[in-house]
Amino acid sequence: MNIVVTGGAGFIGSNFVYYMLENHPDDKIICYDKLTYAGNLETLEKAQSNKNFKFIKGDISNREEVEKLFIEEKPDVIVNFAAESHVDRSIEEPELFLKTNIIGTSILLDACKKFGIKRFHQVSTDEVYGDLPLDRPDLFFTEKTNLHTSSPYSASKASADLLTMAYGRTYNIPITISRCSNNYGPYHFPEKLIPLMIINALNDKKLPVYGEGLNVRDWLYVEDHCSAIDLILQNGKVGEVYNIGGHNERSNIEVVETILHILGKPETLIEHVTDRKGHDLRYAIDPTKIEEELGWTPKTSFSDGIRKTIDWYLENKSWWEKIISGEYQNYYERMYSNR
Ligand code: NAD
Ligand code: TYD
Repeated sequence: MNIVVTGGAGFIGSNFVYYMLENHPDDKIICYDKLTYAGNLETLEKAQSNKNFKFIKGDISNREEVEKLFIEEKPDVIVNFAAESHVDRSIEEPELFLKTNIIGTSILLDACKKFGIKRFHQVSTDEVYGDLPLDRPDLFFTEKTNLHTSSPYSASKASADLLTMAYGRTYNIPITISRCSNNYGPYHFPEKLIPLMIINALNDKKLPVYGEGLNVRDWLYVEDHCSAIDLILQNGKVGEVYNIGGHNERSNIEVVETILHILGKPETLIEHVTDRKGHDLRYAIDPTKIEEELGWTPKTSFSDGIRKTIDWYLENKSWWEKIISGEYQNYYERMYSNR
């Protein structure tokens, strides 16, 4: 099988590339990535020497480039990770999110329609369901929960989901969609909560917690997300949506305190800063469908996963030091100074 992984130079996509190369040595894995600020070829360094791996630089919202990809690589499967993925950036600059996440997905789907495909898998997020109240721990997102978005990012992802379903029904494209909770693990870009806090703590810099830090996220170790997508590709029902999550809910302040505790750093590094606009309160996935229909279970608990992740950042300083010494500094300044 020729499997195209769009956005494979980013956090989850690169972990998926490695997962597939290891678990499906008979498949060819083609990473198609624009290499935005979030894409990093160094992340794929270890894959480059694998004869089953190929990297192609390209933009999902460029029709010509996407058609060339289909003509030259003849993909059997597309797994679409490519996206603008950071909520805070979407609040600053929504239009880019619409272009990549919505138009880009529609161009990929058009190519599937024109050239044919065995499966188009859209990697979506639990954020399309909006948020849950903090005082109702009995409530969870199921696949039947209404889409109800809060940020330009989540609105663009929900639009892409709707387009994917529409193309499935109208043009009979064999689609599946997965909606996963927050991921963490190796190669996570340091604009996101967990890597940002690990790196700031290692550098004895302040840890900027939005508001009181009581917002809750449902954390999943990235490899468990990869195994879920792999199962959906193999056994998932065409046309279906699968929620992915492992019941690892934590408030942001708990996550930050855990990181400080593991690193032996003082809690005085925590700084409460102005809250995010429209900040979703709580995400919590009900993964019953994928567990019961596909037999998926996550392997890594939050306590193991966060230690593994911290160890990875300790052992791979050169990977993140290069990132934070570049354009990232301007982003950090814009986002956090005088906040
Ligand atoms: P990321 O920002 O780390 O990586 C995104 C990748 O997409 C980068 O390599 C970037 O270069 C590439 N890209 C961006 N625009 C592109 C374009 N126009 N054409 C081709 N490539 C382009 O993101 P991530 O955290 O790895 O998320 C991957 C996917 O998973 C996204 O679709 C995201 O919505 C979804 N998701 C993320 C999480 C999470 O916790 N990070 C949870 C659930 C779902
Ligand atoms: P993030 O990693 O941006 O993921 P998402 O918003 O997609 O869930 O943020 C996770 C949580 O951490 C979210 O509630 C916002 C909060 N947060 C902070 O408190 N400080 C920060 O510097 C960042 C980046 C996030």
